[in-house]
Amino acid sequence: MTQPVVIAIDGTSASGKSTNARRVARALGYVYVDTGAMYRTLAWYCLARRIDIHDPKALATALRRWKTSLTCVDGEVRLLVDGYYPQQEIRTAETSAAVPHVAAVPKVRDWMVKHQRACVRFGNLVMEGRDIGTNVFPETDLKFYLDATLDERTRRRTADGLAENLAARDQRDSQRAKAPLMVPLGAKVINNSRLTSDQTTALILEAVRQRSAQAP
Ligand code: DC
Repeated sequence: MTQPVVIAIDGTSASGKSTNARRVARALGYVYVDTGAMYRTLAWYCLARRIDIHDPKALATALRRWKTSLTCVDGEVRLLVDGYYPQQEIRTAETSAAVPHVAAVPKVRDWMVKHQRACVRFGNLVMEGRDIGTNVFPETDLKFYLDATLDERTRRRTADGLAENLAARDQRDSQRAKAPLMVPLGAKVINNSRLTSDQTTALILEAVRQRSAQAP
């Protein structure tokens, strides 16, 4: 049986990963996986239950206790907690501020990577995050790294009505000891500061087509 294809899209915050990963998945009929949403879900769960996000042991206990399931709805994977998908709650400023602390804990990353790899049961994937090409699916040939200037990324977040210190979050994501944000080996780097989403998506799709044409 052929292995599912995985397109890995990593990059900095507000570099257009979600928009482009979703569009690429739709264009190819692949399943979209937002791994940031999975880390956000754990951050939300801990905040809601007053679990100390700075205590790795408390996080490990939470990971043993929470009742989760992965499901695929309209071509997008969701991590449910007790059957609930906290779609709004994971996007609050409070969750955004908490999530890099949670994401820096090795046991948390191990749990997430295991469940992210399990998503291949849903079929071919477009998976976006910070360590997909380096750590979750390092074997895939289809790796992309999106970036844009800090000014442009801040402008995008502000336009979405979200005030956030992106530089601080990127710094935490890039400097953590386990699976830090970095350009994966062999990734196509796209700086889309001056590109529209349409242009960025087209670049990714073209690169995927070229790779597929070269494949044996
Ligand atoms: O992409 P996002 O902003 O929703 O990600 C939320 C946080 O989760 C962000 O601080 C980085 C972290 N993250 C990670 O460490 N590894 C991933 N694969 C995805 C997200």
